[in-house]
Amino acid sequence: MYPAGTLRIQELTAEERAVYATLKPERLPEHVAIIMDGNGRWAGHRSLKRFLGHQQGAKSVQLVTETASRIGLPWLTLYAFSLENNLRRPRSEVNFLMRLLRSYLENNVQRMMDNNVRMRYIGRIHELPPEVQEKMHWAEETTARNTGTTLTLALNYGGRSELVDAFRGLAAEMKQKDLSPERITEEDIHRHLYTAHMPDPDLLIRTSGEMRLSNYLLWQIAYTEIFVTERLWPDFRGIHMLEAIADFQRRERRYGGLGESGGEGSEDPEPVKIAAH
Ligand code: FPP
Repeated sequence: MYPAGTLRIQELTAEERAVYATLKPERLPEHVAIIMDGNGRWAGHRSLKRFLGHQQGAKSVQLVTETASRIGLPWLTLYAFSLENNLRRPRSEVNFLMRLLRSYLENNVQRMMDNNVRMRYIGRIHELPPEVQEKMHWAEETTARNTGTTLTLALNYGGRSELVDAFRGLAAEMKQKDLSPERITEEDIHRHLYTAHMPDPDLLIRTSGEMRLSNYLLWQIAYTEIFVTERLWPDFRGIHMLEAIADFQRRERRYGGLGESGGEGSEDPEPVKIAAH
């Protein structure tokens, strides 16, 4: 077993190592979140059935997770199945995705162990089929003592429903403690999110080119850098995540402030006269 934070750079592919060599190790993101999109299009471009796109997408999940674990990324959170997917996709596709998730867990937990990856989930998990929940608990329990990357799968997840669940939890707590609404802070809301135990994402990657958030981690991405690639999820590999991280490192994060330049030249400017006509 590797101690927490062990880097396994020698296990990266030669191409990945070349991109990794361009990164600043002291500015690696702590948390990368990904909207995995384009499985259907990937299959369509090859005149294949959509489910084959999902199957190929599951391979990308494993390969990207392994690269994340090799570079010592603490948190990787993947949007695997939204509440809207559950409600709006044909039953046959939803059932296929559930079977795929079960077999993915069955077949990959050993690889998670080999890579020191811990599995967690966010979303309305209790609404998933019991046999899927059982497999999920098994994978979570089996990997619970791993100390490397935490892979969180967002399943039956929606950002707005997460906020509803958080507010319900907070309201119950306030009632029990007889607290008034003026006392609510951002920290109180954070404590009731599914993600209370993790830092907010530094980088959000979306594959297949759409410029949308699709109800993902709405509260948590307030200051997250967004990277959109045209590449479809089944073609996405660890090297593409490293390229997204390289792009992230070229950006200046300002959190609403003035950033490292410190707003040079902005000291006490003469007010501009505005003529009233
Ligand atoms: C979007 O592609 C992807 C999904 C709705 C599901 C994501 C699922 C996987 C990556 C595979 C299974 C995951 C695990 C963890 C086993 P889409 O079907 O919306 O693609 P399209 O927009 O091209 O139609």
